[in-house]
Amino acid sequence: MANVIVIGAQWGDEGKGKITDLLSRSADVVVRYQGGANAGHTIVAQGQTLKLHLIPSGILYPETECIIGSGTVIDPKILIEELDRLEALEIPTDHLLISETAHITMPYHRLIDRASEEQRGTHRIGTTGRGIGPTYADKSERTGIRVVDLIDPVVLAKKLRWTIAYKNQILEKLYNLPPLDADAIVAEYQGYADRLRPHVVDCSLRIYEAIQARRNILFEGAQGTLLDLDHGTYPYVTSSNPVAGGACIGAGIGPTMIDRVIGVAKAYTTRVGEGPFPTEIDGDLGEHLCDRGAEFGTTTGRKRRCGWFDAVIGRYAVRINGMDCLAITKLDVLDDLDEIRVCVAYEIEGQRCHHFPSDAHRFAQCRPVYETLPGWKQSTTGCRTLDDLPRKALDYLKFLAELMEVPIAIVSLGASRDQTIIVEDPIHGPKRALLSSNGVEESGMSSLTR
Ligand code: IMP
Repeated sequence: MANVIVIGAQWGDEGKGKITDLLSRSADVVVRYQGGANAGHTIVAQGQTLKLHLIPSGILYPETECIIGSGTVIDPKILIEELDRLEALEIPTDHLLISETAHITMPYHRLIDRASEEQRGTHRIGTTGRGIGPTYADKSERTGIRVVDLIDPVVLAKKLRWTIAYKNQILEKLYNLPPLDADAIVAEYQGYADRLRPHVVDCSLRIYEAIQARRNILFEGAQGTLLDLDHGTYPYVTSSNPVAGGACIGAGIGPTMIDRVIGVAKAYTTRVGEGPFPTEIDGDLGEHLCDRGAEFGTTTGRKRRCGWFDAVIGRYAVRINGMDCLAITKLDVLDDLDEIRVCVAYEIEGQRCHHFPSDAHRFAQCRPVYETLPGWKQSTTGCRTLDDLPRKALDYLKFLAELMEVPIAIVSLGASRDQTIIVEDPIHGPKRALLSSNGVEESGMSSLTR
């Protein structure tokens, strides 16, 4: 039995979907613990490519319970569209469970998200426009509508009428937008409630019972560490806590119930939306990585900004998440480069800095200090073991593991499940002590530690 958290170690889009999908095979329960329809992962089912935003990728395994946890925000319209698409492919969805304490994204949240971004002008965050920030703001302000309210027709009508009257003032007076029709929205959302009611559970209790029954639970983070509301590049962040600590809050369990934390990082870095990005590559090389890596957002289709691997934020992600091991994805995207740079430190005002600065203004001033490694100039997409990898690709991975001070358990070399090297079982393999205090490894993962 192992309860494992999978988190993004960069700015999201690290390829967590593929890693979660791989690990879901040995999970009895998959729990999405934060975020909403801003996330996106692509799954291939019955020969069709599906883009999912809310439903965990574990849905393809009918025996696996998939829980959308308390820390998430749910747009019922999008969730029902996803259920419809799966059901049209005859993929069972009755094992999808929804926490009764998750918050609901309403039409006014989407409108306010977009209108406030427009008003911010050059100070915009570059949100996905899915109403995420305003939904979490209502949660904190204690005016949010939760799943438990949605499924009670009387409570829903009462709460929505009051809230829409209030939001209409904001829409009209602050954003110069037409008011919303409360009756129409109440009727629409009561329809959604009827569809979702059979899936609603007490998520914390369900997970606790699964833990007591010694079932394997996978906690799936959306977005990434640097987009964390408290620990990311504020204010250019999302409004939830993608870091490992967020899993306990978002699932409703205690920290002693977690066994391992797996971080997912790309072999380079991408970011979508605004905000500082020290290792960003401008010009042809950036375009090349974007094309080769198909770096376009699943949710908005926006082009992702591309840059070199940044070990300063990598080490930060190890610390903030208490990461046990790492999955490196998209190594193959670097296959044809002559040389590859890795940011090992920053320089700020002439001083070397090895730690991620929490001040966004200071972070924007960071200049990367690079070490350059030779490229391997050979395809890695067919490699299935470490021994298959070109020597220089292996050296690159070892260099990353050394800089991050965490072992690499998985290497991904393409979108399909078999384009993966499992260095060590990330769920049941040895813990962090693989790197002993004198830096000499003690376990089978040695080849990718130091
Ligand atoms: P929001 O989550 O829509 O409020 O957007 C806030 C910031 O997080 C923006 O920079 C988005 O581009 C970014 N973001 C949100 N979700 C994702 C994601 O799944 N992958 C990458 N970036 C994301």
